[in-house]
Amino acid sequence: MYTGLLHAHSGLAYVLLAAIIFAIVYTLIGFIGNKPFTEGNRKVALIGLIATHIQVLIGLILYFVSPYGISNFSGGNMKDGSARLLMLEHPLTMIIAAVLVTIGYSKAKKLTDSNARYKKILIFFTLGLIFILCRLPWSNWL
Ligand code: HEM
Ligand code: HEM
Repeated sequence: MYTGLLHAHSGLAYVLLAAIIFAIVYTLIGFIGNKPFTEGNRKVALIGLIATHIQVLIGLILYFVSPYGISNFSGGNMKDGSARLLMLEHPLTMIIAAVLVTIGYSKAKKLTDSNARYKKILIFFTLGLIFILCRLPWSNWL
């Protein structure tokens, strides 16, 4: 169970980063070109949203089965940077990133003005990406 989840979480991280970066670039092209926001634009953002939601769900389960998740949580480990990253900083930051991506998609879906819809995705997906890149456990992953 643990190994399978870790592999899924590790592999989906590539898919998620690719999906978010593609969504930002695709949105930027439409925005700069002053094109109308299409169903295709919404779907490209939706792929980024779905990848993020699945990753958070897997991460949440992993948090309870991994030896580096909740079972490693202690006051003493707060002083250990690498332990703190996995037991606290990574989970918290990734949840905030997912909330940002969800807000961006949700707002873009509800608005009607193309320019405003592009802007919501650009701002919230870029913020989400920055949060993700800041607190990925790079040394464990690559
Ligand atoms: C930790 C578990 C999850 C939470 C807390 C969560 C939360 C949310 C929230 C709050 C929205 C609302 C966005 C809106 O306002 O339109 C949403 C949308 C969505 N979620 Fe999740 N989600 C979770 C897991 C998943 C998973 C596992 C999938 C996998 C397929 C998924 C797929 C979607 C899709 C497709 C939408 C957008 C629907 C639309 O087009 O409006 N979510 N989710
Ligand atoms: C945007 C969402 C997320 C991304 C992109 C992401 C990415 C990653 C990556 C790349 C790793 C390293 C995997 C490896 O060692 O090969 C990792 C580990 C981990 N993640 Fe996430 N994660 C996300 C969300 C979460 C969430 C929401 C939680 C918990 C609530 C979580 C808990 C963990 C834990 C506990 C580990 C360490 C697992 C271990 O080595 O035993 N992740 N994550």
